[in-house]
Amino acid sequence: MKHLLSPMDLSVEELDQLLDLASDIAANPKKYARCCEGKKLATLFYEPSTRTRLSFEAAMLNLGGSVLGFSSADSSSAAKGESVSDTIRVISCYADIAAIRHPKEGAPMVASTKSLIPVINAGDGGHQHPTQTLTDLMTIRSLKGGLGNLTIGLCGDLKFGRTVHSLIESLVRYENIRFVLISPPELRVPDYIREDVLNDKHIEYKEVQKLEDVMGELDILYMTRVQKERFFNEEDYIRMKDFYVLDKAKMELAKPDMLVLHPLPRVNEISVEVDDDPRASYFKQAQFGVYVRMALIMTLLGIAAPDAKEV
Ligand code: NCD
Repeated sequence: MKHLLSPMDLSVEELDQLLDLASDIAANPKKYARCCEGKKLATLFYEPSTRTRLSFEAAMLNLGGSVLGFSSADSSSAAKGESVSDTIRVISCYADIAAIRHPKEGAPMVASTKSLIPVINAGDGGHQHPTQTLTDLMTIRSLKGGLGNLTIGLCGDLKFGRTVHSLIESLVRYENIRFVLISPPELRVPDYIREDVLNDKHIEYKEVQKLEDVMGELDILYMTRVQKERFFNEEDYIRMKDFYVLDKAKMELAKPDMLVLHPLPRVNEISVEVDDDPRASYFKQAQFGVYVRMALIMTLLGIAAPDAKEV
């Protein structure tokens, strides 16, 4: 049985197949409407979520399946002290596949060792968020026509932002990728990403503080929220939360076809005046998230795409 705990659990070939399936789903949603009839998805969310949890649920419902789960640790037996391992053993009796979000790094991985059903990491602390990465890759592939030959700027909280870590790890596997890492010194990417991913694979990158200085070089600008919940003291958060604000004036410095992505939720880092710019792609990105999650659920459950003739 396969789980999705890190983006590296999928080979480039498997990733391409999954994105092809997601694109076919986007083009022919009706064809897939009964693929998961009789199947259940459990969403076990120990941390807040809007998009990830609801897009997983929408994905399973679109496939004709059903959903069950909880949306906060307080409303589950975690509040009574139950371990994630025990919870997943029990959920294995109730559902066919589970998506888990947890504040502790590695919790979905621990759950997967005791699980009888496929486990999807829906975000573990400041570590990884592989299904957001699938969403990001589908967005880039669909709107840019491919995943190679790109200069990608990642801006904001590169230290605690799990979506950034998963996206870098995935993109380094494509041709001619260059990163511009834009953050205050306190929020630089963790050493393991710089050493084991970027340096080790000889990826071209630079680290800068000012967004204005690099706007004109970027094909993609991936903005992120400063991750308030991961800070040890509030003062540091307050000092850094408005470090970057993408506004119309900064967008004027960008290429005419640069895409602005953001995993959302946004706080102040993208001014609402940017939303009407045709390069602002973060709401489209949220829509792509449903299609990739449909493709992922089918793939992990071993359900093949229906033949168009059968439908
Ligand atoms: C992200 C997350 O949870 O890491 N949100 C999401 O899943 N779309 C980003 C964030 O919370 O800032």
